[in-house]
Amino acid sequence: MTSKNAFDIMKDQIRDKYEGDPEWKAESDRLFGPEEASALWHELEKSHIIPEPEADVNIVSVSANIPTHELAMFKADLLTRKGKSRFVIGDISELRVKTFIDELVEPYTTFRNRFAYIRWDAYNLPVPDSSADVIFDRKGALWHIAHNYRDTQKLIETFKEYHRILKPGGSLVVDNIGGFEAYLKGLSRERQLEIALKTLSGIRFSDIYPDAPMQYEPSTIDKIRTLALAVSDNTELIITIEDLFEIQDIGEGALSVKIFTKK
Ligand SMILES: C[S@@+](CC[C@H](N)C(=O)[O-])C[C@H]1O[C@@H](n2cnc3c(N)ncnc32)[C@H](O)[C@@H]1O
Repeated sequence: MTSKNAFDIMKDQIRDKYEGDPEWKAESDRLFGPEEASALWHELEKSHIIPEPEADVNIVSVSANIPTHELAMFKADLLTRKGKSRFVIGDISELRVKTFIDELVEPYTTFRNRFAYIRWDAYNLPVPDSSADVIFDRKGALWHIAHNYRDTQKLIETFKEYHRILKPGGSLVVDNIGGFEAYLKGLSRERQLEIALKTLSGIRFSDIYPDAPMQYEPSTIDKIRTLALAVSDNTELIITIEDLFEIQDIGEGALSVKIFTKK
């Protein structure tokens, strides 16, 4: 019998927790849903992160869960795209998305505009080198590595994997919505205790945080920053990321993202 390592066990837990959970997704989409994803797409077009309408475009979303955001962006792109578009979307979990794809995505796909959903592990993407114009990792693999594994080497490997599949000049887009930690710190001790108890009882986020700002948890960038500050040696992580990418912030409020453009 082969024994599982900690990494495999964590992957199983992620699968169990998120596998096709439409209720969780609906909760999450209340604060950042298809409308925000579409607005973010237009923001990225204005900033020239998305290739010009005349070009063909290859988009990858590494941790898509139920791909409501990706469908919104695919449709937003169809408004102007003259070249071909190819959206390749995946998740480590085997999600129950067939009906979603058949009924909501297929009507918009054509020979020129394609949308594929694949089960994969973001650390080892079945995507050719230098082929993606844009990668989205929204509260996905990077978030889980920083929050659950707390593993800077794994973060480095994952940034390198994203760098491998990006075209030169292509960009990784990572959520950077602020405010949640400051909101938590501003609450009274009684309210913080109440939140801790409600969290343990597993009730819905919207009932735990009826007044949360834009999202119910820290962003991926917050999680990476927290990990980098907590470990004794974060030099390799910082140097690797800065060596591989030009970094900039785009968007405000719910549309805040950090962009890592392949050098
Ligand atoms: C909190 S959900 C976010 C989903 C979606 N991006 C959104 O914003 O609604 C996190 C997702 O990351 C996926 N995930 C975690 N680790 C992953 C990995 N190594 N590769 C691919 N997906 C992963 C989980 O299965 C889950 O569907």
